[in-house]
Amino acid sequence: MDKIAIRGGNVLQGDIKISGAKNAALPLMAAGLLTDKALELINIPDLSDVASMAELLTQLGVVVDKNSQGMRLCTKNLISTTAPYDVVRKMRASVLVLGPLVARAGEAHVSLPGGCAIGIRPIDLHLKGLEALGAKITLEDGYVNASAPQGLKGGDFTFPVVSVTGTENLLMAATLAQGETRLINAAREPEVADLAHCLNAMGAKISGIGTDTLIIEGVKSLEGATHQVIADRIETGTYAMAAALTGGHVRLLHGRLDLIPTVAPLLLQSGVSLEEEENALLIKAPSNRLQGVDMMTEPFPGFATDLQAQWMALMTLSDGASMITETIWENRFMHVPELCRMGANITVHGSSALVRGVKQLKGAPVMATDLRASVSLVLAGLVAEGETLINRVYHLDRGYERVEEKLRGCGADIERVR
Ligand code: UD1
Repeated sequence: MDKIAIRGGNVLQGDIKISGAKNAALPLMAAGLLTDKALELINIPDLSDVASMAELLTQLGVVVDKNSQGMRLCTKNLISTTAPYDVVRKMRASVLVLGPLVARAGEAHVSLPGGCAIGIRPIDLHLKGLEALGAKITLEDGYVNASAPQGLKGGDFTFPVVSVTGTENLLMAATLAQGETRLINAAREPEVADLAHCLNAMGAKISGIGTDTLIIEGVKSLEGATHQVIADRIETGTYAMAAALTGGHVRLLHGRLDLIPTVAPLLLQSGVSLEEEENALLIKAPSNRLQGVDMMTEPFPGFATDLQAQWMALMTLSDGASMITETIWENRFMHVPELCRMGANITVHGSSALVRGVKQLKGAPVMATDLRASVSLVLAGLVAEGETLINRVYHLDRGYERVEEKLRGCGADIERVR
């Protein structure tokens, strides 16, 4: 199994190209199921989660062609409406085919995702939302069966808690429903807006994009379109923090401040400077130590839970302390013991972690436990004294495109070992 070896201490300097967002690419690919015309997606990142989604879509009858620009999806005919356990188990975002399948074919069978390292991750809201659009839902042998043989009907659905993929599933389903749907307390994540813009380019009638109320006027059918996937804000935040942690100076090509509206002010507070250039973001570490700054994760525009572990790695070397509170996932501190093995001083109290800054981290063999936890160990390894060996890097490959190459390009001593 691949490992990543890092010899820490190098200052990051140079340019890093930010890839297309994984969490935008996955729902956009699922949107290909909604039409029998071709959907061209530009700037699709080369990630194992994207490959898993392509594999699932192929099983459903989608013809997926990768090209130098990105990906072309064409669903002339569906050959299956089942997302099997084997695929859903690997990638929970497979549930994104549920809405489009019921909308297009009048039925879908999707394996329940089961447990996941970072929490229970239920899909009850996806199901209640589809029921509000007239689908009949049953659970059998670990599968969700959804059916709407006469088609979905527009309706109102209020999310009791904000759900990103829940909003995306219902948004896609509602585009082909009869009449108007209102999704209230919808997720405002930029990836949801990106999906909505693509659906509108395909002929959908969605308004309220970027707000917490999405209004969808159903249409009979959707057309093909060409759409460019937005830049990955999680990758942007991750590399900004990597630059800051190593005392570096990095230009993030395609980075955008409006995609990190809460991360940017906290970075500024900790002493990092951020400057927006044309189609890039310039990150400069402070000349003194980073300052400890408290942080709480929240749905967008709040601080992304997918950047919590990286923020914690940043704060391990801060002058002072930082209280980090996780409000989205109940089991998302698995990086804590690993960071502590590298010399960090962190104590967890329920959903909060108190990070007291230390002067230096030390390299150690560590274990990646989930996607974002694993990159926080990469960040810590970049600045730790000696060698850090990260095991189970397949987590990293799910969401970070060519991570070693990008960091090596800025002077990091990092390599993949087999
Ligand atoms: C998406 C992101 C993931 C990110 C998360 C939160 C994708 C592919 N994944 O995951 O990277 O960490 O948003 O920003 O975009 N919930 C329910 N019932 C549901 C659905 C969710 O109770 O039916 C709860 C969850 O337990 C969690 C919260 O809602 O506490 C947010 O989850 P949700 O936004 O749905 O996360 P995902 O869409 O799975």
